[in-house]
Amino acid sequence: MNILILPGDGIGPEIMAQAIRVLEKFKTEGLPITLTHGLLGGAAYDAHGHPYPDATQKLAHAADAIMLGCVGGPKYDTLPRAMRPEQGLLAIRKDLKLFANLRPAMLYPELAASSSLKPEVVAGLDIMIIRELTGDIYFGQPRGRRTNAVGEDEGYDTMHYARSEVERIARVGFETAMKRNKKLCSVDKANVLDTSILWREVVTEMGKSYPQVELSHMYVDNAAMQLVRAPKQFDVIVTGNIFGDILSDEASMLAGSIGMLPSASLDANGKGLYEPIHGSAPDIAGQNRANPIATILSMAMMMRYTFARADIAQRIETAVRSVLATGLRTGDIALPGEPVVGTQAMGDALVSAL
Ligand code: IPM
Ligand code: MG
Repeated sequence: MNILILPGDGIGPEIMAQAIRVLEKFKTEGLPITLTHGLLGGAAYDAHGHPYPDATQKLAHAADAIMLGCVGGPKYDTLPRAMRPEQGLLAIRKDLKLFANLRPAMLYPELAASSSLKPEVVAGLDIMIIRELTGDIYFGQPRGRRTNAVGEDEGYDTMHYARSEVERIARVGFETAMKRNKKLCSVDKANVLDTSILWREVVTEMGKSYPQVELSHMYVDNAAMQLVRAPKQFDVIVTGNIFGDILSDEASMLAGSIGMLPSASLDANGKGLYEPIHGSAPDIAGQNRANPIATILSMAMMMRYTFARADIAQRIETAVRSVLATGLRTGDIALPGEPVVGTQAMGDALVSAL
């Protein structure tokens, strides 16, 4: 298990330190874990003048899996776009062909009261959002700035998907649904966008090969509404890059806190980059206040998807649940007035629960 650690920026190093403690624990139990360390995002820009430097690229190609903290910070906001931390993240996803982004939104029963929705609406929630990650308007060319026909400054981007790109992510959607409750909802904007018309055609066509999967289609605006109206109607959602970006942040609130949600970004061979879906939270960086659970649950996904060790993944998830059951809360998941513990103490509790 050759794992590259990329702590990134902001709260990244603090939450990653706790994840490493968990890995060290498994190492002492005999798991063949080797860690390498690299820089991505603002930290990489500071050290090497680039958010995804060659040194990191080499390590990333050599690794079986990558654990990433988070990138970005106000310090980098004035850099030219190509040098911003977020570009490092987009570049590593594209470079490693990590086209399938799995973002589970699960509500731990212990956190039912932390969700912004009524407990009866979210109790038992367990959704898997599958977001295409290397195409769409995020990477489409042409893009840029220009002067339009009437002499006005304008910005423009291009949304496009090739049939093969839709096919490979749709297949991940159907296969995931087969392993779960056999319900797949494909989200698009086929009432307006040509890209989505193709998307819907391809997904519908593939549905014929998965007769056991109950396939539905939903416009993204309706999906945004349904997620807060009746989120438990969903099992697996498959969607494009930008719609998935937005809907997965929305879904995180159903789960109580964005500090709880892990993700996996996979290539066609199971190599993966694992990261919490939250950002670098510069406002609380370095204060021992961040919730390390999303990162540690991302590690569970790594054990499940890259290393086929569902047993270890389950141990990690069980440890998280048991720690939550004892009432331990970081600030993001605490109810008003509840006592709060720091990043380190949450890590301590998780390691001892394991
Ligand atoms: C995410 C983030 C990134 C994205 C940003 C930081 C580039 O929001 O992983 O969801 O838009 O993909
Ligand atoms: Mg996002």
